[in-house]
Parts: sequence; structure tokens; C-alpha cells
Amino acid sequence: MCGIVGYIGKKQAYPILIKGLKRLEYRGYDSAGVALLTDDNELKIYKTKGKVADLEAYSADKDISGTVGIAHTRWATHGEPNSTNAHPHISASGNLAIIHNGIIENYAVLKKQLCEYGVEFKSNTDTEVLVQLIDHIRVTHNVDLLTSVRLALRSVIGAYAIAILDKTDPNQIIAARKSSPLVVGIGDDEFFIGSDASPIIEYTNKVIYLDDGDIAVIRRDQEVKIVDFDNEENFRDIKEVELNLAQIEKDGFPHFMLKEIFEQPSCLKDCMRGRVNAETNKILLSAVIDHRDALINPRRIIIVACGTSWHAGLIGKQLIESFCKIPVEVEYASEFRYSNPVINNQDIVIAISQSGETADTLAAVELAKSKGAFIYGICNAIGSSIPRTTDTGSYIHVGPEIGVASTKAFTGQVTVLTMLALTLAEARGTIKHHEYTKIVKELMAIPDKMEELLKVNDKIKEISKVFTYAHNFLYLGRGYNYPVALEGALKLKEISYIHAEGYPAAEMKHGPIALIDEEMPVVVIATKNALYEKVVNNIQEIKARNARVLAIVSKDDEVVSKMADAYVELPETVECLEPMLATIPLQLIAYHVAVCKGKDVDRPRNLAKSVTVE
Ligand code: AGP
Ligand code: GLU
Repeated sequence: MCGIVGYIGKKQAYPILIKGLKRLEYRGYDSAGVALLTDDNELKIYKTKGKVADLEAYSADKDISGTVGIAHTRWATHGEPNSTNAHPHISASGNLAIIHNGIIENYAVLKKQLCEYGVEFKSNTDTEVLVQLIDHIRVTHNVDLLTSVRLALRSVIGAYAIAILDKTDPNQIIAARKSSPLVVGIGDDEFFIGSDASPIIEYTNKVIYLDDGDIAVIRRDQEVKIVDFDNEENFRDIKEVELNLAQIEKDGFPHFMLKEIFEQPSCLKDCMRGRVNAETNKILLSAVIDHRDALINPRRIIIVACGTSWHAGLIGKQLIESFCKIPVEVEYASEFRYSNPVINNQDIVIAISQSGETADTLAAVELAKSKGAFIYGICNAIGSSIPRTTDTGSYIHVGPEIGVASTKAFTGQVTVLTMLALTLAEARGTIKHHEYTKIVKELMAIPDKMEELLKVNDKIKEISKVFTYAHNFLYLGRGYNYPVALEGALKLKEISYIHAEGYPAAEMKHGPIALIDEEMPVVVIATKNALYEKVVNNIQEIKARNARVLAIVSKDDEVVSKMADAYVELPETVECLEPMLATIPLQLIAYHVAVCKGKDVDRPRNLAKSVTVE
């Protein structure tokens, strides 16, 4: 996790670094820190436990001058979140400061060796080992900083994006990456570093995405030079980023999460733009056009993902199996990577990830690739690691998702999975033409139906007030709506810290029913589909045990709406597209319950937006 920012140029670095950290705070907020080479050529480090605002308060009366600096917002992996373990970390000579995103797996061995050489450590982090090692090599071998960084990184096992500031050379920042993202922004007479492009786009749209094994030497008034561990030059293209500031700001909403929930209609239009043709009712996915042979006849499909993306994968399985008649397995990436899976070159692996940086999903992709599977990525962050590793894929194009609780990425992922399932089914001849056309038309209508559904926000705000007393929630759904129940429960857990479980409605009687009493609200997705009557029976069973029921029902439902304590009507659509609508009220419930409980919705405790560590 962790957010990294750097600046070197003619402007004052501190305000740029702080603003950048705020944009990256979704990546972690255990502590924040900054290292500056001040106008008097002093290396100043200010760091504190807590959020970027705490760092600002802490630095208010300090010397924050200087035109070069690095800054960090932390999600702790090694060492408790306190100000000593906060980054930047400084080397024994007092000359080097480092910020790091990732984990140094062999830090204990390296630390032991350095201690034997007499190096004293101040923090409990793995990161400090790296800066001490670089400094130790530089001093004992009398080499320049680049050489010592190259040599040190050769002996490091793990994941890192790092930036190093050197007191003895105020004209340079050195940055490097392996398995953690890092972007270099190129402005006029100035350079930026960021874990993603969000801290950079205000100043320049020209960026270089560093690759694994790249070490970038960023010097004032010179071109960025990128070398590998052997000092061979790596030439990387300068790309133009298309992000704009409005996309990464709150736009009048109190939280990013609410903004992102409300953005879903327009995001899904963006996701379908150029892919779903309203005149011909046909879907064209460039990945399927380009890789038709590899995609059309697999032995099976394995979907790998984590968290919300895994829930989207569960919906993907139902879509692909019912339309394409291809067997699909859905695996947690974290389990899959260590499960010694039986895969070969007749399998397709679909990796779903909003950030494109989730360490477990990336490792699962690499494993499947090494076994010969064809890899299809469904990601949001353009140019991130997973899409760069896959054979092909489709971006979901929903724009930056800042709220830690994923919302628009989920519906974007389900949209892409629907387009993919329909496209493959059509190519394989496993779907009737009229069914294909009907679903495509319904898919195009989803954004407007979502817009209509979002009007329920005020009603849900009121309903949510009633539910803040609960310590436990149960979410039930069946078929396509079972993953929606899981997703609703995850959303509530993440941001309101209320324990919630998602279950297939019919499984309730095999255990969870024992928990049900008047203190445990149950959210039931009870739309009028093939299993409606059975879900109605489940609701009877819940009501008989005095629990409050919040039901998500089809338009004009007269049965469940009378049984439930509160209900939300969904606009009509075909069953396979219901998840995209049914998830909206559940996102809003989680949001409003968390707000009512006074929780920090966009920055829930212990979580970070992109989980780039195992
Ligand atoms: C979603 O609300 C979560 N914050 C989390 O489960 C997330 O979906 C998971 O970490 C996967 O992230 P990714 O999609 O970026 O790979
Ligand atoms: N391992 C480092 C620490 O704990 C960086 C953590 C991270 O990038 O998530 O400080």
C-alpha cells in the first residue's frame, strides 16, 4: 500500500508534496511524512502518526523550504503505526532519506548482517533496512548513490517502489520499482514522482510508468535516465495521461464514496461507449476481435480476484456458464497462487482488479501465465501492473475510484463481464439471437434505470437511521443476486464496522437462522425471478423470528413489500442484469449507516485502497 510522492524543480516542494499525499491518502493513512532539502541545504524530516492533515499541523511551525523533497503516507506492514516507524527513514550517515511502498521479504537477514557491521536501527520497519543497506554500501565501497542503490537492490527480495533523497546531492532523486507501482511525471524544468498519476496531473500530463527492475535517476535540468541493476539503460516511452482534476475531486459530494455511487450511470455509459452499438445491437470487444482463436474454445475459465472484484467474478461465472456453456471456476487470488493449481494452455484465466495492482491477483496471473494459460485482464487503472502482464483484456473505464469501498468499479466489472459473456456466446453460437439482442438492449438501458433508482437515496438515508443500532446484519440473495448479498455485506463491514454476512437465502436454514432475532436486521434481495416464491418463504421464516427485514423488490411487488419493514423497488430488467441495479441500494445503505455512526467513510480503519502487499 502506501502512497509515494516526490518533487524536484524550481517551485517550493512542500505544498506540492502535501497536495499529492492527500490525493494518495486512499492508499494508507497510518502515518505521513516528508523529507525536504531546505534552502540552507539541510535534510529535514517531519513525520507523524495519523493522516496528512496531522502532518500539516505538525510541520506548521517548521522550516518547510526547499525545491526538492519526497513524501509518504503509510499503511503499515512491519512495525506499528507510530511516528518512529513513519517514513521517510534516514540512514546512519544522516545523508539519505527513503520512502517505500511494499515489503522487503528478506529484511531480517539483511538487518542481522547490518547490525553485525555496527549499524544501529531506529525503527521496526523493513524499509529502514533498505536505506541502511544503500548507505552502508555507499560508504564502505566509496561508490556513488546510483551504484549503491543498484547493488543493494540486487540483494533485496520483495516488493518495492522507493524514492531516495541525498543530502550531499540536492539536484537528484533516485527512484526504483519492483512489483509496486511508480510513475514519473515530466514537467517544464521539473519532475514529479507518484504511486499513481493523481498527484502529478495538476502539473503535467506527461508521464513514464516505470517497469519492474527500473531505477530512475531524476536530476534537475536533465532528462530522466532509467537503468537496470546492471546499469544498462532502459528506454521507456513518455505517455500522456488522460485523467483530469475533476475526476479526482469530490465535486460537491461529502465523500468520494457517495460521488462514486452517483457516478455509476455515467461510468457505465463510458464503459459501454464504442463497445455496444445502439443501432445494430451488437457488442464489439477489441480483445475478442484480436484474440478470437485463443478465447473462443477454452477447456474452462478460471476467474481470479480479491474482495469486491471476486464478487463480480461470481456474477461473471453465472453469466459465462449460462450463455457460453464453458465451465468457470472463481478463485480467491490469494488462495489460488498457493494451491498448486492444475492449469494448462487450454485454460483462460480472467483476472479482475480495480487497481490493477493487487499483489495476490498479480501473483495469480504470473503463476497462470507460467503454466501456459491465456490471461484476460479486467481492470480499471490504466497502465497498472495487471493489464501490463496479461495477454489481453478490457478496461472498465469508470475513472479513478478513490473511496476505499469499491462501488463503481463493481458495476463496471459486471458490465464488462456481461459484454464478454455475450460476445463469446455469440461467437460460439451458444446464445439465441433474440436473447442476445434482448440482453444487449437491456444492458444499454441500465444507466438510465440506475439514474432513476438513485432517487431512492433520501429514502435509504431515512431507513438507515433505524438500522444503526445493529451489531450484526444478514444479507440474503439467490442466483445472480447471491454475490450481490455478499457485496452488500462487505460494504457494510468495511465502512461501518458492523459485522455482516452474506448468504444464499436458502442456506439460511442450515445455520444462520439460529442467529436471527429482533436485534439482527436482514437485508433480502427478493426480486420477481424464478426463485421468488422460495425467497418469500425465507422472509416468512425471518419475520416469524421477529427480525426487521429490509427488502429489495421488483417494481409493484405487493407481497414482499407488505411483509418487509422497509423496501426499495428496483426498475425492471432481465434477471442476469439485476445485480447492477440491486447493488445500488446496498451501497447506499452501507454509506448512510456508516455516516450515521460517524465513521470515516472514505478512509475506513485498517484498510487501504490498493493492497499491494500479500
Ligand atoms: C472493496 O470495497 C475492497 N476495498 C476490497 O475488497 C477490494 O475490492 C480488493 O482489495 C480488490 O482490489 P482490486 O479490485 O483493486 O484488485
Ligand atoms: N513495509 C513498509 C512499512 O511497513 C511499507 C508498507 C507498504 O508499502 O504498505 O512501513
